[in-house]
Amino acid sequence: MRPSFVTLFAVLTAAAPFDKRQATTITDAQILNYALTLEHLEATFYQEGLANFTQQDFEDAGLGGLFYNNLKEIAHDETTHVSFLTGALQAAGAPATAACDYAFGTTTLAEFVTVANVLEGVGVSAYLGAAASIVNKDYLTAAGSILTVEARHSAFWRENQSPPQSPFPSPFDIPLDFNEVYSLAVQFITSCPKSNPPLPVKAFPAITLTSPSGEVVNGTTLELTVAESVMAAGAYFITSTGSVAAPLMGSGTKYSVTVPSGAQAGQEYLVLTKDMNAPTDENIVAGPVVIMVADNDYGVTVPPTPCPSETAPPMSSQAPPPPMSSKASPPLPATTTMPAPPATTCPGELTGAYQTPHLIVPIKSTSPNQAYGTQYTATITETECVIFNFDIPASYAGKTCEYNFLFPEQSMLETSSYTLSGSGSLDMWALSSAADQSTSWNNAPAKASHLGGWSPSPGSKWSPWSGSCAAGTAVSVEMCASESLSFTFFEDT
Ligand SMILES: *[C@@H]1O[C@H](CO)[C@@H](O)[C@H](O)[C@H]1NC(C)=O
Ligand SMILES: *[C@@H]1O[C@H](CO)[C@@H](O)[C@H](O)[C@H]1NC(C)=O
Repeated sequence: MRPSFVTLFAVLTAAAPFDKRQATTITDAQILNYALTLEHLEATFYQEGLANFTQQDFEDAGLGGLFYNNLKEIAHDETTHVSFLTGALQAAGAPATAACDYAFGTTTLAEFVTVANVLEGVGVSAYLGAAASIVNKDYLTAAGSILTVEARHSAFWRENQSPPQSPFPSPFDIPLDFNEVYSLAVQFITSCPKSNPPLPVKAFPAITLTSPSGEVVNGTTLELTVAESVMAAGAYFITSTGSVAAPLMGSGTKYSVTVPSGAQAGQEYLVLTKDMNAPTDENIVAGPVVIMVADNDYGVTVPPTPCPSETAPPMSSQAPPPPMSSKASPPLPATTTMPAPPATTCPGELTGAYQTPHLIVPIKSTSPNQAYGTQYTATITETECVIFNFDIPASYAGKTCEYNFLFPEQSMLETSSYTLSGSGSLDMWALSSAADQSTSWNNAPAKASHLGGWSPSPGSKWSPWSGSCAAGTAVSVEMCASESLSFTFFEDT
């Protein structure tokens, strides 16, 4: 990677001065400074993130393994982009823009991970949109070689969202024009050095997506707040093949927009226009705002699979014998509608009605006061336990409930997974009261009774307990491991 980068730099420095198009359009030097403006923003964002959060913080949030190394690599890429673009501009005798002051509005690790994802997506759309305006082919290649890396950063962040987003949600990415990108970037900029060369760009009033959070699907109603009162008549999603009109309601600073079926999966951009014509710099009155549209093939809406989602939640409380009225709720507060799991043909199939856990909360003796909230990934060891909550429907009154731990062969899982190592047993306890998002090792409900222990083996089922259903209540069970056993699972949606 690095050798060809150096070669490219050599080509670039030889290619001065910048080609200039008509006075009213943007020059290559301005495009490189525009790119540099974004790279400074990204580089600072990651430097702050690395200063704010430790590797342990990310691991505690379920982002373990190679995550932190990759994060540092991304931060390094962005600072390298800054020095590369700065060098290219200086070599061509053009002033290079310096870093500004920023306010990213991120205080928590979760916000950092969310904004990182958005920034990389905007980076992709910015380079893609700028490409057609670059005159010098060497600069075009340079921009292209940065674009492809930003796209891989974007894929990395999308997969590391919680819940994960498709790393490549659509066959095409969406180009944005200079003003659209600048409108998004300027929201993070508080002030810039006076000496920075001016850019021929302007920002439209910002739109904030008030609700919902997370990925949306077509038909979802978006509640929007505009930074200033505007007279919007149209709402458009910008896609890779043009813009798609969306139903709009509201006035002034408050609007609601329904996601149209033509919205493109992935990081979408919504703008408001003053008329019903397709959006251009002339008729946009506010935006863009980033809207994450779910890829229907991924994550949010799971199509029928041979081995469905109930294999992933490792436990269920089963109430025979009423007929299958499978209304399995997701274990996480979902922002989108979830399908009922399709009929299964997996071994260990559950008969009767069943409930998947509605809350999965890890607790760790090594960070006894940390509340992890619901997690998609969890590890069970001697020092890290997991609490599962089940909401037992009132209609289960008088019935028998059974806890079942389904442990399929890895090969049977499509979107979920687990790893198992070491030896020992999994042990389960009923807790004296229900856990919640703020449960930590130290404040967890007391273990009321030991339900059993089991040496897990793939392809089998463990039923540690059955008894009368605690209908209409939330019950919690805790699972820990003994000896060297380590069990990590990824809970899909
Ligand atoms: C780093 O922490 C400061 C102080 O909480 C915060 O203002 C800033 O937005 C954070 N930066 C990032 C990138 O998370
Ligand atoms: C969403 O789009 C799909 C495919 O275009 C369509 O079948 C479905 O009816 C749409 N749903 C809504 C709520 O518009």
